[in-house]
Amino acid sequence: MLESERLICTGRELQECAQGVRFALPELGERITGFVVRYNGKPYAFVNQCAHVPVELDWNQGDFFDLSKSYLVCATHGAHYEPQTGFCVMGPCKGRKLQRIETIERDNRILINLKSLQHDRI
Ligand code: FES
Repeated sequence: MLESERLICTGRELQECAQGVRFALPELGERITGFVVRYNGKPYAFVNQCAHVPVELDWNQGDFFDLSKSYLVCATHGAHYEPQTGFCVMGPCKGRKLQRIETIERDNRILINLKSLQHDRI
């Protein structure tokens, strides 16, 4: 594992369109968290802050998907985001994006690349 990588969970813990795994992001602030979900077989991680108002998205801890399991949804005002890109397709911040974190799946481990936190919203 590279110095810039952080282990988040095992690959098996991350089930398709199921609960996401939350993690602390002290690099961005004391109370900032991130999360990773699996969608179409791949892991995707984001900073857990809505693009509308910087509040956490999950409606219960780790619950990010809408009922159709097609979008990540913000519990506060219902913004819908594409799981692959973090692009907001519906809601008050339509056209904006979640801050994506580069994610690596290797040897049944889900890792994030901390270097990707240094970029602006991608
Ligand atoms: S805070 Fe997320 S949609 Fe308003």
